[in-house]
Amino acid sequence: MKLISAVTLALLTAVAAARAQESGEPRRGLAVARANCAPCHAVARGDRASPNPLAPPFQRVANTRGMTAMALNHFMHSAHETMPLIILSPDDQWHLVAYILSLRSR
Ligand code: HEC
Repeated sequence: MKLISAVTLALLTAVAAARAQESGEPRRGLAVARANCAPCHAVARGDRASPNPLAPPFQRVANTRGMTAMALNHFMHSAHETMPLIILSPDDQWHLVAYILSLRSR
């Protein structure tokens, strides 16, 4: 039983990650980021200084070791002391995740 749920979970995770990469459009994600995240985060490629110094530039987020679509989704759906919980439509969420991951440089 346990093994079956572990396998199911692994499959669901893989499907969700594949979906983010396939259906999210980075260009639309940039617009979502500009509208929702730019007051605090540096959102553009090559922009290393965030308006809020506590908020990491998205390029740095993208290059964090082990960063995945699942990890980003999880982060954005949980509450943080220093960052407001921002509710986006599922489509915008996927575009945004695809955009952030597109900034990865290594
Ligand atoms: C009001 C300011 C503010 C806004 C708006 C904001 N953030 Fe943040 N965000 C922060 C701060 C401050 C941190 C650092 C907090 C921490 O590490 O706990 C942070 C951390 C993060 C992190 C974690 C980075 C890491 O490596 O741990 C991610 C991912 C993130 N924000 C994504 C977003 C996205 C996507 C949006 C837009 C939908 C957004 N943020 C909007 C202030 C903001």
